[in-house]
Amino acid sequence: MQNNTFSADSIGQNVIVLEQIGSTNDYLKFQLSNFTPFAEWTAIMARHQTQGRGERGNKWLVPAGLNLTFSTVAYPTYIRLQDHFSLNILISLALMDWLDSLSISASIKWPNDIMLNGRKIAGLLIENKSSGSTIRQSVIGIGINVNQLDFPSEIAHTASSILRETGMQIPDLLQACKNILCFLQQRFETFKNQQVCQEELLKEYNQRLFRKDILADYSNEEGNFQGKLLQVDSKGLLHLEIAGQEKVFQFKEVRFLLQ
Ligand code: BTN
Repeated sequence: MQNNTFSADSIGQNVIVLEQIGSTNDYLKFQLSNFTPFAEWTAIMARHQTQGRGERGNKWLVPAGLNLTFSTVAYPTYIRLQDHFSLNILISLALMDWLDSLSISASIKWPNDIMLNGRKIAGLLIENKSSGSTIRQSVIGIGINVNQLDFPSEIAHTASSILRETGMQIPDLLQACKNILCFLQQRFETFKNQQVCQEELLKEYNQRLFRKDILADYSNEEGNFQGKLLQVDSKGLLHLEIAGQEKVFQFKEVRFLLQ
């Protein structure tokens, strides 16, 4: 664990701001495993995350001070382990709510990304702990490219930021983090209180899907192919129509090829 600077004004409304940390997910998990009694939706936000982790063992490297990198904790004991994809749905839709509130029209790229104008602006890293058939703890890591304008040439065509795509600067990252936490809590509470059911959420998720009903390029271990995205189902499986046939993919079995 690295040393951190806590400033007096950096702790507020359940957000602990660290000037520098390797990974907010790792830090939060470490604290939780040492029995730090964090209330649900406590968040750790890093001004500079130096060893951010992404899905599939990828790195999430961002410049200091420009983007949102934070992790929060939920205790969704009302979600069965077999329904864990509900977490992706709820979190993705909460991010849509936040972007909608800024009049930014983004879409969800299955299973963990947010896209704007065909480029990735955000990613999720969800790490669960379960007991039996119940999810006991979920550490939800969120990285959103907010005010970054320059991207390394190798990712400049696939990655972007809110500022680069819309011209909108979001100067107060702490407030943005708090706003997102509110949308997360709303989505989870509504689901917990059964004011919305799984089918309705899944329908909304599918309506916001990147490339829905569009013929586009994908790859798997056999090579590149074209497919039309039909739907994501309740188990989180991707349904593509390939040469007139419906095929179903798990997360690690297929990649979206971006132009
Ligand atoms: C991905 O696109 O592969 C997921 C990226 C998730 C990055 C966030 S940034 C905050 C949190 N801490 C991490 O180490 N990763 C997540």
